[in-house]
Amino acid sequence: MRTLAVLSRKGGTGKTTVAVQIAVAAAKAKRRVVVADLDPQRSALDWRRERIGDGPRVIEAKAGALFTLKQAEMRAGTDLLVLDTRSSNDQESAEAAREADFCVIVTRPCFFDVRSIQRTAELVNNLRKPAFIVLNQAPSRRNGEEPRLIRETVEMLDSYGLPVAPVGLRYRAAYQTAVRAGLAAQEMDPDSLAAFEINALWRHLKREIWPVQPKAVQPMVERMLGAA
Ligand SMILES: Nc1ncnc2c1ncn2[C@@H]1O[C@H](COP(=O)(O)OP(=O)(O)O)[C@@H](O)[C@H]1O
Ligand SMILES: [Mg+2]
Repeated sequence: MRTLAVLSRKGGTGKTTVAVQIAVAAAKAKRRVVVADLDPQRSALDWRRERIGDGPRVIEAKAGALFTLKQAEMRAGTDLLVLDTRSSNDQESAEAAREADFCVIVTRPCFFDVRSIQRTAELVNNLRKPAFIVLNQAPSRRNGEEPRLIRETVEMLDSYGLPVAPVGLRYRAAYQTAVRAGLAAQEMDPDSLAAFEINALWRHLKREIWPVQPKAVQPMVERMLGAA
């Protein structure tokens, strides 16, 4: 089982949106996925209540009880546990990051948000957790060029010591209409741009969380172990 912590210090950046979209993408890829809602606002649980039919399980959870939760989910055969954290609680973010195998830090491309995640990036780096930053609610390209805001944000993030995911999420109404119906954007319209970017983010994340063993290394490892 892998545990993914979705973090950011500001509310409204899109942690829950990213958590549920990724959870649905993982479920569609036949992973057994559970979203642990650590935020007392319980947005992920609200989303699940609206949802009809199957899909990722969403459970209420407390940051202080994550170790026990992980043990239980491991026993239950869960492949991916997504921790949807609350904003402005550094202690809980630290607990989630500590229990995670991978962290995704969500930020909007604006000065205050980017500044506020500096501390989250430090936390993740101090814990030596693999992570990336994902830009959410990004403005669309103009005349085929990224808006200046995005370029400036990426430059600012350059000093944080963490990679920025090569795929971000644009500001799209589809994300808002989908969650109201307990859906993910890719379920509302699989051919939409939102679906396209979520699938791309999931593919990128999947490679980070479950790195493929390079073919050349495996026989070498076996030879070395065999000789021991
Ligand atoms: N890429 C996006 N485009 C449009 N609206 C978005 C996007 N991401 C999030 N939102 C909206 O922004 C609001 C806050 O998102 P949410 O995921 O609840 O943030 P957080 O969990 O970080 O507080 C919600 O209304 C959500 O639908
Ligand atoms: Mg939330």
